[in-house]
Amino acid sequence: MKGVLLHGGFGTRLRPLTHTGPKQLIKVAGKPVSQWCIEDLRDSGVRDIAIILGELAPERVIEYYGDGRWLNVNITYVYQGYPYGLAHAVFIAKDFVGDEEFVVYLGDNILVEGISEFVRKFKESDADAMVLLTKVPDPTKFGVAEFDEKGRLKRLVEKPRKPPSDYALVGVYFFRPPAIFNVIEGLKPSWRKELEITDALQRLIDLGYRVEYSIVKGWWKDTGTPEDILEANRLLLDNKYTNTIIKGEVEKGAIIEGRVFVDEGAIVKNGSVVRGPAYIGRNSVIGPKAYVGPFTSIGDNVVLDNIEVENSVIMDNVEIRGLGERIVDSIIGSNARIVHSDLRPRGLRFIVGENTSIIL
Ligand code: G1P
Repeated sequence: MKGVLLHGGFGTRLRPLTHTGPKQLIKVAGKPVSQWCIEDLRDSGVRDIAIILGELAPERVIEYYGDGRWLNVNITYVYQGYPYGLAHAVFIAKDFVGDEEFVVYLGDNILVEGISEFVRKFKESDADAMVLLTKVPDPTKFGVAEFDEKGRLKRLVEKPRKPPSDYALVGVYFFRPPAIFNVIEGLKPSWRKELEITDALQRLIDLGYRVEYSIVKGWWKDTGTPEDILEANRLLLDNKYTNTIIKGEVEKGAIIEGRVFVDEGAIVKNGSVVRGPAYIGRNSVIGPKAYVGPFTSIGDNVVLDNIEVENSVIMDNVEIRGLGERIVDSIIGSNARIVHSDLRPRGLRFIVGENTSIIL
């Protein structure tokens, strides 16, 4: 089975974090969201993966993943350019896929229990497509399934105002060519001027192709908003880091409690407390007077001193010093600097990017 990872879109709801790169590269629990997807594909036996690149800084994706060998996968890149929709992104993977069965994985989706069970199930079936569904509290935000009296898939509707069920489409789809490519060719753009994967699936159903479904029971998240990022971070820290691992240094007098990952070159200084689940990235310096609380991920090359942080994601190259405050439920983008100063006149000094939110 081959893998097609969709890595496009503008990430509008995550601005300003997505002004400089695609949302799928935002790190949660120490890794970009799309790296969790690639590792899931790999661990499910899918090693030939095409990444479909969008218009927003595609070079950053290539720079990060390269040929994929460091993750033990083979990566091919395909440029989508302007986002004409998920079905269009799938269509341009046609040559890469050839006649092999394949799985499409939206690079902003996280399934804590992974997809290996579903990969196995699809390989054993001879269906033309299989979708994953899960029960959600607000189906209007997703593609939604409607079933017939025998419990078979009858209809799939994209973001319906009156959802026919509570079952949303998870962003992982399985296909056996060529049916899917044939129907995408005949698709018309939706009201949002995109070729919808949901419409392509509906056409498969209408034309009598076999479209099956599996239910995802474990935790699933589509990371479109800042709240989603914090939630994904919490769940991944809790589920993927089951032991304390110290690759860097914990000075005598520093306190590590619970499950904490300290990456190479990082130092937790004497006088600091890190309470897990927490992740400290490469070459970061915590302390001497810092507290990193549960459900916090600190990126690479971060400096934290005289500050407390809890339930937050701090990205790479951030410096936060001297505030003597506690930061909670926050996302701090790369290269941000928040420091205390005695400069006159006294006051808060900001150079704040677009769409930023600061709650004091
Ligand atoms: C897309 C699909 C939708 C699906 C969702 C899952 O929505 O169109 O059917 O439920 O992904 O993440 P989008 O993220 O494009 O709004």
